[in-house]
Amino acid sequence: MKNNMTAANLRSAYGGESMAYQRYKVWSKKAMDEGFKNVYRLFNAIAYAEEVHASNHFKAHKDLEGDFLVPSMAGFGIGNTSLNLDKAISGELFEVNEMYATYIKVAEFQQEEGAKKTFTWAREAEKIHADLYKEAKLAVDSGKDVSFNEVHICSVCGYTTVGPIPDKCPVCGADTTRFVTF
Ligand code: FE2
Ligand code: FE2
Ligand code: FE2
Repeated sequence: MKNNMTAANLRSAYGGESMAYQRYKVWSKKAMDEGFKNVYRLFNAIAYAEEVHASNHFKAHKDLEGDFLVPSMAGFGIGNTSLNLDKAISGELFEVNEMYATYIKVAEFQQEEGAKKTFTWAREAEKIHADLYKEAKLAVDSGKDVSFNEVHICSVCGYTTVGPIPDKCPVCGADTTRFVTF
């Protein structure tokens, strides 16, 4: 990696994903307390996808060692599950429409292929996360748990699905053995 701006974006994304992991773990427990077992599972599964994103960003930064202060966007607050889902949706959409959308463009311009790949993998998963959280919020707002239960995560790129495990990950090409089910 040769360019400061892409390096700073990788660090910021690493920070954002790390904090999203923690936030979703807290919110998953809140969903369990409120009796929404499938929403608990969803937050937990997506937390794992964010962990995959964070570690991919960390690895893409490998040739630049040292200590850095890392500013990242981080949402705070523990509301009820409906409010937490609202915050989760806006966080995911921020990543899709602003953060990763522009980080990918910068990485492209700076010909940083490794960073471009990890940002693209993350952005593809965040689109799905926003949709799944929207579905969960609709259910919770009508007093029900969301209907899907098992959530599958690609351990290579963080791709997320509530359908059957694909033969090949549509985002990174990993095979079925690389999927983790929650
Ligand atoms: Fe992510
Ligand atoms: Fe996400
Ligand atoms: Fe994948």
